[in-house]
Amino acid sequence: MTQSQTLPDHVGIIMDGNGRWATARGLSRNRGHKRGAEVFGEIVRHAKRLGIPYLTVYAFSTENWNRPPQEVAGIMDLLRGYLRDADRYRKENVQTQIIGDKAQLDADLVEMIAKVEEGSRNNTGIHVNIALNYGGRDELVHAARKIAAMILEGSIPLQSVDHSMLERCLYTAGQPDVDLIIRTGGEQRVSNFLLWQGAYAEFVFTPTLWPDFTAADLDAALEEFSRRERRMGGI
Ligand code: FPP
Repeated sequence: MTQSQTLPDHVGIIMDGNGRWATARGLSRNRGHKRGAEVFGEIVRHAKRLGIPYLTVYAFSTENWNRPPQEVAGIMDLLRGYLRDADRYRKENVQTQIIGDKAQLDADLVEMIAKVEEGSRNNTGIHVNIALNYGGRDELVHAARKIAAMILEGSIPLQSVDHSMLERCLYTAGQPDVDLIIRTGGEQRVSNFLLWQGAYAEFVFTPTLWPDFTAADLDAALEEFSRRERRMGGI
């Protein structure tokens, strides 16, 4: 990272490749996720050091329920482990938010999430969104329902529905659009991640599997981002 680089306001990461990393080592897929959760912690700290204001990571999609129950339970337990460590947020000054549909999550997890979101609300180091039971299309349906309900109850007129109102109904209300999406693990697709917020995002794809991703890899992605010419639909 050099001083003159343009830093994104909001970085999104699709943390792909945990399963392959584990299989290549003869380990269970859950061991790959465990290493993935450790890397997540390291990347949050590095992003904070660099001064990136917002970071969103894709931890569990609305489609991931199709995985074997043991794998789903393993990922949920890693999240519990992260959330349980409430002291960490105070020390590290990280504001943590969970984005996604919480209705399907276990009650204890929902309770932990509420505590961490409340307890870290005033932290200013970096804002981290963990996308959990998240899908971009789901998020838009959720926003559309919120708006429809307001119209039906007569609290807003149809004419007031515009981009900014829809944005205020997203899980990421009040946050800047994501300007850089990094996907590890070699696939080159968006997989239902931040569909609205990433309308003008730059993408950096890397074959590196998430458990092997390092602070230097984040630096390289940021350098690549700063070289891109962003026209946002202009000329
Ligand atoms: C994708 O790799 C990864 C996931 C579906 C889970 C990501 C979850 C974590 C990194 C742990 C989250 C925990 C915290 C605390 C944020 P994959 O399993 O699809 O890998 P593969 O493509 O190699 O099979």
